[in-house]
Amino acid sequence: MPFSTSVLSAAPASYATPLLAIAVPAGGLPASLAAVDAATGGALGRVYASGDFTGKKDEQVLVHPAGPIARVLLVGVGKAEEAGRTLIRRAAASAAKRARVLGVPTFAFHLPREAAGSVSAREAGQVIAEGLGYGAWHYPDLKQPPEEKKPALESAVILAPEATAEVEAGHLVGAAIAAGQAYTRLLQMLPGNTCTPGYLAQQAGELVRRHGFKGIVMDLAAIKAEKMGGLLGVAQGSAEEPKFIVLEYQGGSGAPIVLIGKGITFDTGGISIKPADKMEDMKFDMSGAASVLGTFEMLGRLKPKVNVVGLVPCAENMPSGTALKPGDVIRSHLGKTIEIVNTDAEGRLILCDALSYARKFKPACVIDAATLTGAVVVALGHFASGLMGTDDALVEEVRQAGERAGERGWPLPLWDEYRDLIKSDIADMKNSGGRPAGSISAGWFLREFVSGYPWVHVDIAGTAYSDREDAARVKGPTGNCMRLFAEFVLGRSA
Ligand code: BES
Ligand code: MN
Ligand code: ZN
Repeated sequence: MPFSTSVLSAAPASYATPLLAIAVPAGGLPASLAAVDAATGGALGRVYASGDFTGKKDEQVLVHPAGPIARVLLVGVGKAEEAGRTLIRRAAASAAKRARVLGVPTFAFHLPREAAGSVSAREAGQVIAEGLGYGAWHYPDLKQPPEEKKPALESAVILAPEATAEVEAGHLVGAAIAAGQAYTRLLQMLPGNTCTPGYLAQQAGELVRRHGFKGIVMDLAAIKAEKMGGLLGVAQGSAEEPKFIVLEYQGGSGAPIVLIGKGITFDTGGISIKPADKMEDMKFDMSGAASVLGTFEMLGRLKPKVNVVGLVPCAENMPSGTALKPGDVIRSHLGKTIEIVNTDAEGRLILCDALSYARKFKPACVIDAATLTGAVVVALGHFASGLMGTDDALVEEVRQAGERAGERGWPLPLWDEYRDLIKSDIADMKNSGGRPAGSISAGWFLREFVSGYPWVHVDIAGTAYSDREDAARVKGPTGNCMRLFAEFVLGRSA
């Protein structure tokens, strides 16, 4: 059963639950928790008084008072004046993660007003729902028998005795985003032999059935008919047929926002093969695709007044007797010729065809998400995605959407000088500019295929997955860019 959340106007002191999680600020026990403290026989006050717990970010303490509340979990959000959407979302995630590990089937979460900082009740409802879903998520394991013996965490109740309607309104949005995010992470996590281009195409079909979107999936023959030479080139070394997914959500009037996601279901590097170390992580090379599909799950649930098109080129990058070779020249969907100098620079080859295909929709703007370059990890590490684009105002709008989503991005320059990096002697461009400014030369490559609309590229190679567990999450897929997409499209909805 999928994890679900709801909002209740009940006061935390009188709500019977196996686990009451409370997000608390640094300093001391907030005054509004006096009744809960009394209901626990003063246990909460003693926690602060002991000095064992100070309310710092990520700090947790679990107490077992006598009475109707079996357990109270205090989760620190840090200084109240610094509390923002990100820290509140994170506190909810860390509470849900702990609840899951404890094995309770359900729990209650409460954010006292003293811990909310400047975050409104509505925003709190949204980010708490997102965070609860984030922390409750875990990957489906394939162990026999299953390692998880504890009962699954099925639900959480947000206790909001004040401004309940506002919290509820935010929760509606947050719950839809949480569902999209969980779906994105599931798709990311699936092994490459399950999550093939055909599988993603099937998933797109289910989204269409579930939510009544318009949608088509182009198969090999249709992709050939469209002359998508980049996508065909990458796919030609694999036994898996490429797919090109087109989804259309029509909820408003006006030109659509086009979202594009890189759907390389496994990236071996092709003939320019990658080293074996950590190659298994390249099942995550479809994370951009997963964030687009997750955004459509959100759109189907929330039905905002906005038009969105999703374009997802899908292929597997393999070495074989039929694979693309360094030195080959291919012709893209737009007609530009590309000299292949490194078959591991495959993401840009499938994205360029999607960028030129996007013109057909006369987009208001186009945003693509792609695990595109190792270089962006060198530049920004795991705390920000790389942003590049043709329009500074749009880059800033995307950055701010990411800020609201708790998925940071940071701009990298697409200055003219960098264009030289991808100059080819024999074709319109080559597909790799080598090591210097590797993320920017990839951005420049994409830019060559952008015409007639403002565009932003989000390089999520450093943010899409993590090999570290922390208070808020298990290691593995982060779903990064799904919430950014959601904030962006909701920010443009009427
Ligand atoms: N999928 C990789 C980028 C990547 C690297 C994603 C690390 C996640 C973590 C991409 O297809 C790739 O191989 N890029 C090359 C480009 C180079 C050949 C110009 C890279 O970054 O090395
Ligand atoms: Mn590659
Ligand atoms: Zn790749």
